[in-house]
Amino acid sequence: MNETDFIFKNYNLSNIANGSITWKTPSNIALVKYWGKREPQIPENTSISFTLDACFTLTILEYSKRQTPHGERDSASHENNFNFEIYFEGEKKNDFKPKIATFFKRIEKYAPFLKDFEFIIKSENSFPHSSGIASSASGMGALALCVMSLEKELNSAMTDAYFNKKASFLARLGSGSACRSVEGPLIVWGKHPEIEGSSDLFGTKFPYKIHDNFKNYQDTILLVDEGEKQVSSTVGHALMHNHPFAKQRFKQANSNISKISIALQNGDLSAFIANVESEALSLHAMMMTSNPYFILMKPNTLKIINEIWEFRAATKSNICFTLDAGANVHVLFPEKEKEKVNNFIKSNLMQFCQENHYICDSIGKGAKKISNI
Ligand code: PMV
Repeated sequence: MNETDFIFKNYNLSNIANGSITWKTPSNIALVKYWGKREPQIPENTSISFTLDACFTLTILEYSKRQTPHGERDSASHENNFNFEIYFEGEKKNDFKPKIATFFKRIEKYAPFLKDFEFIIKSENSFPHSSGIASSASGMGALALCVMSLEKELNSAMTDAYFNKKASFLARLGSGSACRSVEGPLIVWGKHPEIEGSSDLFGTKFPYKIHDNFKNYQDTILLVDEGEKQVSSTVGHALMHNHPFAKQRFKQANSNISKISIALQNGDLSAFIANVESEALSLHAMMMTSNPYFILMKPNTLKIINEIWEFRAATKSNICFTLDAGANVHVLFPEKEKEKVNNFIKSNLMQFCQENHYICDSIGKGAKKISNI
């Protein structure tokens, strides 16, 4: 499929009533990281992620038809002639509007009906706002899905497969990693010769049978640093443009996709662990060697990593860690080690979290439409 397959034309507004749509969309955690992109939001390498379950954004899109033809009205509530208000966790958030307006502008070519409506967007996260957990994946994913449900109202013949592909395609234009939040449990984004059906334009389900070792895999997120990120991912991606190690990094990530694909199929936990931890450290190595350079890990991030390594060596556990673009640590482990690892987290790792905060999550199935709440 290419971009033109997602352009929607010839719709008829006369049969559509005012209404509202709700989507619950999970966050995801990359195993092989996306870091570096080119226009229009095309990844420089393939990435793969676990879709999460407990960490999600719930978004309600209330829509009503605009009374006058689009483009004619102008008021303070219009951003680039899109008409919407945004509420986050019950509060009106005008400072979120430019980001949403940019998103709408980017997807307008594919969803031209956006200017025919007035929207009220109400959004909330299941995880604390200041937790340092990136909400752009679940947030943009949820909004893209709401837009797609509206498109479906205008085109009832749309198939589920097309719906999901286009939702992921639109989400990607909002935030790259968001395209991996539409479905689950394991999503690939970025064309790769060894992953059938993979695309730069949208996320696709890992197409091969996943070994039972990875069934219901656990992800406990240790909140080391609850606060705004020092460096936005937009800035981080841009720093890969003149990065001295960029070419090698993209090659490494694509080769890690081949390796992790095999480990996921044959259940090789040691290979999985080596791959996932190396990816996390490579991501941070890119940040430490960019110009300007920065360190997003905190002293407690390193303490946790060392504790995990010691515990693994002493107990032969299959625990491992990964990191996002921040100081928090995602602790990954098989479901059958849940009790043992949870005890270890409580006794040894919790002390390194801000106010002892951590979130127990596991692999999820993807976004869900909520009928009426
Ligand atoms: O989707 P963005 O632009 O916020 O970038 C996300 C980048 C990482 O979270 C660091 C890695 C990834 O693949 O999710």
